[in-house]
Amino acid sequence: MKAIEIFDLYVYLGGRYILEDINIQIEEGEIVAIVGPNGGGKTTLIRTILGLIKPEKGIIKIFDKTIKEAIKEGIIGYLPQRADYEIDFPFSALDVVMLGLINKKMSEKEKRKEALKYIEYVGMSGFEYKPFSKLSGGQKQRISIARVLASEPKIMFLDEPSTGIDVVAQEGFYDFLKRLRDEKGITIVMVSHDIGVVGNFVDKVAGLNKKLHYFGPPQQFLQKDVLFNLYGSEVKLLIHSPECITCQNFSLK
Ligand SMILES: Nc1ncnc2c1ncn2[C@@H]1O[C@H](COP(=O)(O)OP(=O)(O)OP(=O)(O)O)[C@@H](O)[C@H]1O
Ligand SMILES: [Mg+2]
Repeated sequence: MKAIEIFDLYVYLGGRYILEDINIQIEEGEIVAIVGPNGGGKTTLIRTILGLIKPEKGIIKIFDKTIKEAIKEGIIGYLPQRADYEIDFPFSALDVVMLGLINKKMSEKEKRKEALKYIEYVGMSGFEYKPFSKLSGGQKQRISIARVLASEPKIMFLDEPSTGIDVVAQEGFYDFLKRLRDEKGITIVMVSHDIGVVGNFVDKVAGLNKKLHYFGPPQQFLQKDVLFNLYGSEVKLLIHSPECITCQNFSLK
């Protein structure tokens, strides 16, 4: 079953095309990373798939449904690039996860029990009553994911979920996403900048800079010409980044 199908998508904002000629098919259960330079349209693509931005033209299907139908059925989970509740809110971790259950027909007590289950699943037991704003970047991400999981989506969109997590912890984070896919069968689409690290964990990479420059397995994506095509001269910055382990294997003249 296809989780996402996009045909001939064009997005026009502020007097110019932000996305052009996008065609993608994502299979159910795949983990896909959207990568590309800043301003390349990654967040715009996710927001368009979620129905938050109206495209100029194109067709988007989510599990063979329209965006409206998919949202109504509650099959989509979304972790935005910056969470609104990150501002100094007096919310506990448990409160944040319970936000994910807002539309469920359950008593408060049942919601609490359900939320605690997801907190345990993301390995955050013991942090239930800590103020969300006092958690570390990685802990906040886990709690935010628990909130999205609580709504029981079939597909999750994560916009730069590893921001603020160090490289070692990132590997654990991606392992965690893989476990989610394996155990719950959730399709995962995430935006990332760590192309070297992500390459080891995802099934497919979507290289986006206004157009879709690449869509396929990570191995071919990490070839020099593909990276050059997508990032232009910026690729040197990536390759010189000490955090980009895979990238260090390249030497550019
Ligand atoms: N509502 C809008 N009106 C006009 N231009 C917009 C709007 N939203 C986004 N843009 C422009 O679209 C381009 C793509 O932005 P987007 O946020 O999708 O990039 P991104 O790939 O997510 O970048 P980053 O890696 O920095 O998060 C940018 O040039 C941005 O200024
Ligand atoms: Mg973005």
